[in-house]
Amino acid sequence: MGKGSRNRARRAAVSARSATVRAQRELEHPAWPGLAQGIPGSADTRVRLARPEDEAAIRHYLVQATEDQGINDPTKAVPTVCPSIQAGLERGQDGFLEGAAEQLHAYTIEPDDAHVLAGFSLVAVNDSDVVVGAITVAPPWRYLEDITRGLGPQEIKPLLIQTMLGLAKVIGVAVRDDLRGNGIGGDLVRAALQVLNRCGTWRIVFGSCESKRTEFYRRLGFNISALNDPIDTYLAIGIHGLISTPGHHIFSLER
Ligand SMILES: CC(C)(COP(=O)(O)OP(=O)(O)OC[C@H]1O[C@@H](n2cnc3c(N)ncnc32)[C@H](O)[C@@H]1OP(=O)(O)O)[C@@H](O)C(=O)NCCC(=O)NCCS
Repeated sequence: MGKGSRNRARRAAVSARSATVRAQRELEHPAWPGLAQGIPGSADTRVRLARPEDEAAIRHYLVQATEDQGINDPTKAVPTVCPSIQAGLERGQDGFLEGAAEQLHAYTIEPDDAHVLAGFSLVAVNDSDVVVGAITVAPPWRYLEDITRGLGPQEIKPLLIQTMLGLAKVIGVAVRDDLRGNGIGGDLVRAALQVLNRCGTWRIVFGSCESKRTEFYRRLGFNISALNDPIDTYLAIGIHGLISTPGHHIFSLER
């Protein structure tokens, strides 16, 4: 073999090796950058990070999935992807924490802000990029309101960070009715768990659902509480607190 072809073979081997390393890295962190463009999912859809222009579509879907006052209040922003989540997707938990610290510095903190600070939505889109399903995940702001009532900004801040790192709430997930049962809802939940994993932001991810929806979450690996039974937040944030929703089950997953 001549010198030229040896060099070519070496270059090909190096390039194959770096392609393998790249592929392995993407496997470790499939949420990034894949989710920005869209991860191919069920029924010819892709799941991608929500963009500001998706807000109306997300609201349309989430109203079907939740009675949460926060999300249904049209004066409140629906989280699309906040800067700390974006930084977390790019650089893991360090990125998330730096992004969150910058935001905390910039805002006058109210518990209400938690969803803007650490919330995100993912959308399932068809091949024309039309939204056919959505999921929104955010720190539980009503719970935060409860545990921070009467506290000043300096006391609220550490609780806010603890909660953002420890607890993630599935505010809602919904799929266009004619496309249900094709795996899209499952894709959305799994992709949201990848985002949380990558950002290192949760010890417990949870949400509430009616009895007819428990099987959906059970099949995705969540524990389901008995009707009306609360879950304790101690494991997630080191503070005992009970979360429950009357007439609902709590589905939860621990990391
Ligand atoms: C709940 C919802 C998001 C599920 O989305 P979907 O795309 O239909 O769900 P998938 O096709 O991904 O189903 C995932 C798994 O759950 C199962 N599943 C879904 N709904 C189910 C039900 N009502 N009963 C039993 N199993 C169910 C599926 O069979 C599938 O199981 P498998 O993976 O073992 O086959 C969708 O039904 C919806 O938009 N509902 C209205 C809004 C709503 O109620 N949201 C939930 C609020 S808590």
